[in-house]
Amino acid sequence: MSPSGEKATAAGVYDWFLGGRYAREADIEAAIASQRAFPVLARTVLYNRQFLQRVVRYLVGQGGRQFLDLGSGYPSSGNVHEIAQELAPGARVVYVDHEQGTVDVGREILAGNPDATSILGDVRDPEGVLNHPEVGELLDFTEPVGVLMIAVLHFLPDTAEAARIVRRYVDHLAPGSYLAISHGTYAAGARELANQTATNETYNRQVSESAYTRTFAEIESLFAGTTLVPPGLVLATEWHPEDPAHEHDDEDEASAVLAGGVGRVDPRG
Ligand SMILES: C[S@@+](CC[C@H](N)C(=O)[O-])C[C@H]1O[C@@H](n2cnc3c(N)ncnc32)[C@H](O)[C@@H]1O
Repeated sequence: MSPSGEKATAAGVYDWFLGGRYAREADIEAAIASQRAFPVLARTVLYNRQFLQRVVRYLVGQGGRQFLDLGSGYPSSGNVHEIAQELAPGARVVYVDHEQGTVDVGREILAGNPDATSILGDVRDPEGVLNHPEVGELLDFTEPVGVLMIAVLHFLPDTAEAARIVRRYVDHLAPGSYLAISHGTYAAGARELANQTATNETYNRQVSESAYTRTFAEIESLFAGTTLVPPGLVLATEWHPEDPAHEHDDEDEASAVLAGGVGRVDPRG
């Protein structure tokens, strides 16, 4: 909490790591404290953002023209609509976040873009999101939709409940749709794990949404109803790296704490 009594938000803290255009005092303090506890955190945030961008390019390459971005955050450069609409003009994007500030900024930026919008919604309320009038106006769920849950599910404390929530979205999607998830995970080594626990504690003390780290097996359970596309659930840096010469760096702590994968919605059985 800042001296003004304000609590930081996940959206503001994340924004600070990406350049900090919209972060407020409480966000900046929480971000700096988390960065002290886990000094490579800024790099993890960057890796997450790069994963998101690679996923959107991949999905457009698979013919994807509709995106539902849940827990979208403040619009940063290289956002989903910029990438998708550059590659596929007319691609439709709905951003959803529970932070009013991100929605206000998003709507300002997207005014004049008939194919993208930003709405207030809670990822834990799939029916509320899916039945939102603006979602219905922009997205046609009889056709494939790419649902993005990038760095948002680690704000849901209970894994079984998180899996039930994700499944309600998946069950609403046409076969051939995709679900992309990135999620905080455990670093391989004990030293990193100790750092990570300290970071979570620091973050959760100051930020209104607490973050929960999950194992690979727990994260994989969130993909029920889909089949993971190769290479499966991996460290996010290792998912379709842009550089063909990319080699995983075992020493890179920032990479070791973020898992990412994309599942293709199975045909109805
Ligand atoms: C770490 S940021 C990730 C932003 C973006 N998805 C990305 O990866 O670049 C997490 C975002 O999820 C939002 N969020 C957290 N819990 C949420 C919930 N229950 N419903 C909707 N949004 C939520 C936060 O407000 C924040 O903007």
